[in-house]
Amino acid sequence: MIRKFERKDLKEILGIEKKSFPKTPYDELIFLQYAERHPDSFLLYLEESSDKILGYIIFQPDGHIISIAVNLMHRRRGIGTRLMKEVLKASYGNALVEVRKSNTIAQKFYKKLGFIQLGSIPWFYEDEDAIVMIYDRRK
Ligand SMILES: CC(C)(COP(=O)(O)OP(=O)(O)OC[C@H]1O[C@@H](n2cnc3c(N)ncnc32)[C@H](O)[C@@H]1OP(=O)(O)O)[C@@H](O)C(=O)NCCC(=O)NCCS
Repeated sequence: MIRKFERKDLKEILGIEKKSFPKTPYDELIFLQYAERHPDSFLLYLEESSDKILGYIIFQPDGHIISIAVNLMHRRRGIGTRLMKEVLKASYGNALVEVRKSNTIAQKFYKKLGFIQLGSIPWFYEDEDAIVMIYDRRK
């Protein structure tokens, strides 16, 4: 099941975030700011039977992906793909993302979805370059 973020979800989201981005997790304030700015584009994937949050995505209405993460125990089950499909639907097939150069898993994930590499941004992150990928609408 997919639904919008609510304030009560914060603690669970922070747990997924810390495990997914141990070096540079977003803090509480960042999540709340995104939720306030773009409430329709902060989505959660929940396990139907338990209401447990298994993944989340934050994007801008133009399709710029801000963050996506899936609970470690539930990866490789199509949850990330399901969340990304919501973005593509909302943004009419426009999507762009910056990915850490070392994050080859995420690059494979986006490639499988139909993204192609547009270029790179040196030192986009404090300690690393970013690969910029866009969704190829011809696919
Ligand atoms: C990237 C991420 C969101 C993918 O979520 P997911 O739910 O596991 O992805 P899916 O199950 O939808 O995978 C779709 C495809 O992506 C690719 N993929 C996903 N995980 C992969 C892995 N560990 N190794 C290789 N390919 C992988 C595969 O092609 C997969 O299709 P397949 O399972 O049929 O082979 C998840 O790994 C994650 O939370 N990573 C940590 C946070 C992160 O890096 N976010 C991206 C920041 S830009």
